[in-house]
Amino acid sequence: MPSYAFFHKQFVPLAEAKLEIMTHALHYGTAIFEGIRGNWNSKHQQIYLFRLKEHYERMQNGCQVMRINLPYTIDKLCQITIELIAKCGFQEDIYIRPFIYKSSQALGVRLHDLEADFLVFAIPWGRYLDTDKCKCSVSSWRRPDANVIPPQVKASGIYVNNALAKTEAVSNGFDEAIMLTPDGHVSEGSGENIFLVIDGKLVTPARYNNILVGITRNTAMELAQKELGIKTIERHIGRSELYTAEECFLTGTAAHITPVTEIDHYTIGNGEIGEITGRLQEIYSEVIRGNNPKYLEWCTPVYQKP
Ligand SMILES: Cc1ncc(COP(=O)(O)O)c(C=O)c1O
Repeated sequence: MPSYAFFHKQFVPLAEAKLEIMTHALHYGTAIFEGIRGNWNSKHQQIYLFRLKEHYERMQNGCQVMRINLPYTIDKLCQITIELIAKCGFQEDIYIRPFIYKSSQALGVRLHDLEADFLVFAIPWGRYLDTDKCKCSVSSWRRPDANVIPPQVKASGIYVNNALAKTEAVSNGFDEAIMLTPDGHVSEGSGENIFLVIDGKLVTPARYNNILVGITRNTAMELAQKELGIKTIERHIGRSELYTAEECFLTGTAAHITPVTEIDHYTIGNGEIGEITGRLQEIYSEVIRGNNPKYLEWCTPVYQKP
Protein backbone atom coordinates (compact mmCIF):
# COMPACT_ATOMS: atom_id res chain seq x y z
CA MET A 1 0.00 0.00 0.00
CA PRO A 2 1.50 3.40 -0.91
CA SER A 3 2.13 5.49 2.15
CA TYR A 4 2.31 9.26 2.28
CA ALA A 5 3.63 11.98 4.54
CA PHE A 6 2.70 15.62 4.81
CA PHE A 7 6.11 17.24 4.43
CA HIS A 8 7.25 20.71 3.31
CA LYS A 9 3.60 21.79 3.08
CA GLN A 10 2.43 19.03 0.75
CA PHE A 11 1.55 15.34 0.57
CA VAL A 12 4.45 13.28 -0.75
CA PRO A 13 5.23 9.54 -0.84
CA LEU A 14 6.72 8.62 2.56
CA ALA A 15 9.94 7.37 0.96
CA GLU A 16 10.55 10.81 -0.58
CA ALA A 17 10.23 12.76 2.68
CA LYS A 18 13.87 13.30 3.64
CA LEU A 19 15.53 15.73 6.05
CA GLU A 20 18.87 17.42 5.45
CA ILE A 21 21.73 16.55 7.78
CA MET A 22 22.25 20.06 9.20
CA THR A 23 18.64 20.30 10.41
CA HIS A 24 18.82 21.93 13.85
CA ALA A 25 16.34 19.53 15.53
CA LEU A 26 18.42 16.51 14.58
CA HIS A 27 21.37 17.79 16.59
CA TYR A 28 19.73 19.37 19.64
CA GLY A 29 16.34 17.64 20.00
CA THR A 30 14.58 20.94 19.30
CA ALA A 31 11.27 19.49 18.18
CA ILE A 32 7.85 18.72 19.58
CA PHE A 33 6.10 15.53 18.66
CA GLU A 34 2.74 13.92 19.23
CA GLY A 35 1.40 10.39 19.03
CA ILE A 36 -2.18 9.92 17.92
CA ARG A 37 -4.05 6.66 17.50
CA GLY A 38 -6.25 5.71 14.60
CA ASN A 39 -8.39 2.75 15.66
CA TRP A 40 -9.87 0.51 12.98
CA ASN A 41 -13.49 -0.62 13.32
CA SER A 42 -14.09 -3.42 10.82
CA LYS A 43 -17.87 -3.40 11.34
CA HIS A 44 -18.05 0.30 10.50
CA GLN A 45 -15.24 -0.01 7.89
CA GLN A 46 -13.90 3.11 9.53
CA ILE A 47 -10.80 4.46 11.26
CA TYR A 48 -11.49 6.68 14.25
CA LEU A 49 -8.81 9.19 15.27
CA PHE A 50 -8.93 9.42 19.04
CA ARG A 51 -9.04 12.86 20.68
CA LEU A 52 -7.33 14.39 17.66
CA LYS A 53 -7.86 18.01 18.65
CA GLU A 54 -6.54 17.52 22.19
CA HIS A 55 -3.25 16.20 20.79
CA TYR A 56 -2.79 19.29 18.66
CA GLU A 57 -3.72 21.53 21.59
CA ARG A 58 -0.96 19.89 23.61
CA MET A 59 1.42 20.38 20.68
CA GLN A 60 0.49 24.06 20.54
CA ASN A 61 1.33 24.48 24.23
CA GLY A 62 4.66 22.74 23.62
CA CYS A 63 5.37 25.14 20.76
CA GLN A 64 4.79 28.08 23.07
CA VAL A 65 7.50 26.80 25.45
CA MET A 66 9.89 25.90 22.60
CA ARG A 67 9.42 29.28 20.87
CA ILE A 68 7.96 27.73 17.75
CA ASN A 69 5.28 29.44 15.72
CA LEU A 70 2.93 26.66 14.74
CA PRO A 71 2.39 27.41 11.04
CA TYR A 72 -1.22 26.11 11.00
CA THR A 73 -4.33 26.46 13.12
CA ILE A 74 -5.43 23.45 15.14
CA ASP A 75 -8.39 22.95 12.79
CA LYS A 76 -6.04 22.94 9.80
CA LEU A 77 -3.72 20.41 11.51
CA CYS A 78 -6.71 18.14 12.16
CA GLN A 79 -7.79 18.50 8.53
CA ILE A 80 -4.27 17.70 7.20
CA THR A 81 -4.17 14.60 9.41
CA ILE A 82 -7.58 13.31 8.30
CA GLU A 83 -6.66 13.90 4.65
CA LEU A 84 -3.34 12.07 5.09
CA ILE A 85 -4.93 8.97 6.63
CA ALA A 86 -7.69 8.90 4.02
CA LYS A 87 -5.03 9.13 1.30
CA CYS A 88 -3.07 6.23 2.82
CA GLY A 89 -6.26 4.13 3.03
CA PHE A 90 -5.32 2.13 6.15
CA GLN A 91 -7.67 -0.64 7.29
CA GLU A 92 -5.98 -1.49 10.58
CA ASP A 93 -4.88 0.17 13.82
CA ILE A 94 -2.40 2.94 13.17
CA TYR A 95 -0.17 5.37 15.00
CA ILE A 96 0.18 8.91 13.72
CA ARG A 97 3.30 10.96 14.35
CA PRO A 98 2.96 14.74 13.99
CA PHE A 99 6.31 16.50 14.39
CA ILE A 100 7.17 20.17 14.46
CA TYR A 101 10.84 20.91 14.43
CA LYS A 102 13.47 23.62 14.17
CA SER A 103 14.16 23.17 10.50
CA SER A 104 16.93 25.72 9.90
CA GLN A 105 20.16 24.38 8.47
CA ALA A 106 22.13 25.84 11.37
CA LEU A 107 24.34 24.76 14.23
CA GLY A 108 24.44 26.45 17.65
CA VAL A 109 22.49 25.63 20.79
CA ARG A 110 19.45 27.90 21.04
CA LEU A 111 15.74 28.19 20.42
CA HIS A 112 15.71 31.68 18.88
CA ASP A 113 16.30 32.82 15.28
CA LEU A 114 15.37 29.48 13.76
CA GLU A 115 12.72 28.43 11.23
CA ALA A 116 10.24 25.69 12.07
CA ASP A 117 8.38 23.22 9.89
CA PHE A 118 5.61 20.71 10.47
CA LEU A 119 5.38 17.14 9.19
CA VAL A 120 3.11 14.20 9.86
CA PHE A 121 3.09 10.55 8.84
CA ALA A 122 1.38 7.38 10.03
CA ILE A 123 2.29 3.71 10.32
CA PRO A 124 0.33 0.55 11.06
CA TRP A 125 0.92 -0.25 14.75
CA GLY A 126 -0.85 -2.81 16.89
CA ARG A 127 0.21 -3.35 20.48
CA TYR A 128 2.98 -1.16 21.90
CA LEU A 129 3.70 -3.13 25.07
CA ASP A 130 3.39 -6.59 23.64
CA THR A 131 2.00 -8.25 26.75
CA ASP A 132 -1.33 -8.62 28.57
CA LYS A 133 0.38 -8.51 31.94
CA CYS A 134 3.22 -6.03 32.10
CA LYS A 135 6.26 -6.53 34.32
CA CYS A 136 7.86 -3.24 35.39
CA SER A 137 10.93 -2.14 37.28
CA VAL A 138 11.64 1.11 39.07
CA SER A 139 14.30 2.80 37.00
CA SER A 140 17.65 4.03 38.24
CA TRP A 141 17.04 6.98 35.86
CA ARG A 142 15.01 9.79 37.42
CA ARG A 143 12.45 11.89 35.55
CA PRO A 144 13.89 15.41 35.04
CA ASP A 145 12.51 18.19 37.17
CA ALA A 146 10.35 20.79 35.41
CA ASN A 147 13.21 23.27 35.83
CA VAL A 148 15.59 20.96 33.95
CA ILE A 149 13.37 20.20 30.93
CA PRO A 150 9.62 20.70 31.30
CA PRO A 151 8.23 17.13 31.15
CA GLN A 152 4.73 18.36 30.24
CA VAL A 153 6.17 19.38 26.88
CA LYS A 154 6.58 16.49 24.45
CA ALA A 155 9.97 17.72 23.26
CA SER A 156 12.00 15.13 21.37
CA GLY A 157 15.20 15.97 23.30
CA ILE A 158 13.76 14.92 26.66
CA TYR A 159 13.10 11.41 25.32
CA VAL A 160 16.75 10.44 25.81
CA ASN A 161 15.73 10.16 29.48
CA ASN A 162 12.84 7.84 28.60
CA ALA A 163 14.99 5.75 26.25
CA LEU A 164 17.66 5.23 28.95
CA ALA A 165 15.00 4.02 31.36
CA LYS A 166 13.23 1.77 28.85
CA THR A 167 16.39 0.02 27.67
CA GLU A 168 17.61 -0.48 31.24
CA ALA A 169 14.27 -2.15 32.10
CA VAL A 170 14.23 -4.37 29.00
CA SER A 171 17.92 -5.34 29.47
CA ASN A 172 16.99 -6.46 33.00
CA GLY A 173 14.15 -8.65 31.71
CA PHE A 174 11.20 -6.29 32.36
CA ASP A 175 8.68 -4.88 29.89
CA GLU A 176 8.64 -1.27 31.04
CA ALA A 177 10.33 1.20 33.41
CA ILE A 178 8.68 3.27 36.10
CA MET A 179 10.59 6.48 36.72
CA LEU A 180 10.69 8.41 39.98
CA THR A 181 10.92 12.18 40.40
CA PRO A 182 14.25 13.65 41.57
CA ASP A 183 12.86 13.60 45.15
CA GLY A 184 11.86 9.93 44.89
CA HIS A 185 8.12 9.99 44.21
CA VAL A 186 6.53 7.87 41.50
CA SER A 187 6.33 9.77 38.22
CA GLU A 188 5.50 7.74 35.10
CA GLY A 189 6.52 5.04 32.64
CA SER A 190 8.83 5.71 29.69
CA GLY A 191 5.82 6.31 27.45
CA GLU A 192 2.84 6.00 29.77
CA ASN A 193 1.22 7.42 32.87
CA ILE A 194 0.70 5.12 35.83
CA PHE A 195 -2.37 4.38 37.97
CA LEU A 196 -2.71 2.37 41.16
CA VAL A 197 -5.86 1.04 42.81
CA ILE A 198 -5.65 1.67 46.54
CA ASP A 199 -8.68 1.05 48.81
CA GLY A 200 -10.84 0.69 45.71
CA LYS A 201 -9.95 4.18 44.41
CA LEU A 202 -7.68 5.19 41.57
CA VAL A 203 -4.50 6.98 42.57
CA THR A 204 -2.13 8.58 40.06
CA PRO A 205 0.85 10.95 40.27
CA ALA A 206 -0.15 14.61 40.05
CA ARG A 207 0.98 17.16 37.45
CA TYR A 208 3.68 18.35 39.88
CA ASN A 209 5.29 14.88 39.77
CA ASN A 210 7.04 15.70 36.47
CA ILE A 211 4.63 13.78 34.25
CA LEU A 212 3.52 14.29 30.72
CA VAL A 213 -0.15 15.02 31.33
CA GLY A 214 -1.53 12.20 29.23
CA ILE A 215 -4.68 12.34 27.16
CA THR A 216 -5.26 8.64 27.90
CA ARG A 217 -4.75 9.45 31.61
CA ASN A 218 -7.57 11.96 31.34
CA THR A 219 -9.69 9.45 29.38
CA ALA A 220 -9.17 6.76 32.05
CA MET A 221 -10.09 9.22 34.81
CA GLU A 222 -13.27 10.33 33.02
CA LEU A 223 -14.37 6.79 32.19
CA ALA A 224 -13.67 5.57 35.73
CA GLN A 225 -15.78 8.40 37.15
CA LYS A 226 -18.63 8.33 34.64
CA GLU A 227 -18.89 4.60 33.94
CA LEU A 228 -17.73 3.01 37.21
CA GLY A 229 -18.34 5.81 39.72
CA ILE A 230 -14.69 5.61 40.81
CA LYS A 231 -12.79 8.78 41.67
CA THR A 232 -9.12 9.39 40.91
CA ILE A 233 -6.87 10.96 43.51
CA GLU A 234 -3.89 12.86 42.10
CA ARG A 235 -1.11 12.97 44.69
CA HIS A 236 2.48 12.13 45.60
CA ILE A 237 2.97 8.34 45.51
CA GLY A 238 5.76 6.70 47.48
CA ARG A 239 7.76 3.90 45.88
CA SER A 240 6.59 1.24 48.34
CA GLU A 241 2.94 2.01 47.51
CA LEU A 242 3.66 0.45 44.12
CA TYR A 243 4.37 -2.87 45.78
CA THR A 244 1.29 -2.92 48.02
CA ALA A 245 -1.30 -1.58 45.53
CA GLU A 246 -4.36 -3.72 44.82
CA GLU A 247 -4.00 -3.12 41.09
CA CYS A 248 -1.79 -1.17 38.73
CA PHE A 249 -2.05 -0.14 35.09
CA LEU A 250 -0.33 2.10 32.57
CA THR A 251 -2.08 4.48 30.17
CA GLY A 252 -0.83 5.95 26.91
CA THR A 253 -1.88 6.58 23.34
CA ALA A 254 0.43 3.80 22.15
CA ALA A 255 -0.02 1.45 25.14
CA HIS A 256 -3.78 2.10 25.65
CA ILE A 257 -4.60 0.68 29.12
CA THR A 258 -2.02 -1.99 29.98
CA PRO A 259 -2.34 -3.95 33.24
CA VAL A 260 0.80 -4.21 35.39
CA THR A 261 0.98 -7.41 37.40
CA GLU A 262 4.56 -7.30 38.67
CA ILE A 263 6.90 -4.49 39.79
CA ASP A 264 10.51 -5.17 40.83
CA HIS A 265 9.51 -8.87 41.18
CA TYR A 266 6.73 -8.01 43.66
CA THR A 267 3.40 -9.49 42.58
CA ILE A 268 0.67 -6.84 42.34
CA GLY A 269 -2.66 -8.03 43.76
CA ASN A 270 -3.03 -11.71 42.88
CA GLY A 271 -0.82 -11.40 39.81
CA GLU A 272 -3.78 -11.34 37.43
CA ILE A 273 -5.45 -8.42 35.65
CA GLY A 274 -7.28 -6.51 38.41
CA GLU A 275 -11.07 -6.15 38.37
CA ILE A 276 -11.18 -2.38 37.97
CA THR A 277 -8.34 -2.46 35.42
CA GLY A 278 -10.14 -5.13 33.36
CA ARG A 279 -13.44 -3.26 33.38
CA LEU A 280 -11.76 0.00 32.39
CA GLN A 281 -9.87 -1.77 29.60
CA GLU A 282 -13.12 -3.13 28.16
CA ILE A 283 -14.92 0.24 28.32
CA TYR A 284 -11.93 2.05 26.84
CA SER A 285 -11.53 -0.35 23.91
CA GLU A 286 -15.17 0.17 22.89
CA VAL A 287 -14.88 3.95 23.28
CA ILE A 288 -11.76 4.34 21.11
CA ARG A 289 -13.30 2.29 18.28
CA GLY A 290 -16.38 4.47 18.07
CA ASN A 291 -18.64 1.79 19.55
CA ASN A 292 -19.95 3.85 22.46
CA PRO A 293 -22.34 6.61 21.29
CA LYS A 294 -21.76 8.57 24.52
CA TYR A 295 -18.16 9.30 23.58
CA LEU A 296 -18.38 9.83 19.84
CA GLU A 297 -17.15 13.41 20.18
CA TRP A 298 -13.74 11.89 21.02
CA CYS A 299 -13.68 9.90 17.75
CA THR A 300 -13.02 11.54 14.39
CA PRO A 301 -13.98 9.31 11.44
CA VAL A 302 -11.57 9.42 8.50
CA TYR A 303 -13.45 7.85 5.62
CA GLN A 304 -16.39 9.57 3.93
CA LYS A 305 -19.37 7.22 3.69
CA PRO A 306 -21.59 7.27 0.58
C1 LIG B 1 6.46 10.12 28.91
C2 LIG B 1 5.04 9.88 28.56
N1 LIG B 1 4.13 9.87 29.54
C3 LIG B 1 2.83 9.66 29.30
C4 LIG B 1 2.38 9.43 28.02
C5 LIG B 1 0.93 9.20 27.77
O1 LIG B 1 0.34 10.32 27.15
P1 LIG B 1 -0.89 10.15 26.18
O2 LIG B 1 -1.91 9.38 26.93
O3 LIG B 1 -1.33 11.53 25.89
O4 LIG B 1 -0.39 9.42 24.98
C6 LIG B 1 3.29 9.43 26.96
C7 LIG B 1 2.85 9.20 25.58
O5 LIG B 1 2.64 10.11 24.83
C8 LIG B 1 4.65 9.68 27.24
O6 LIG B 1 5.55 9.68 26.25
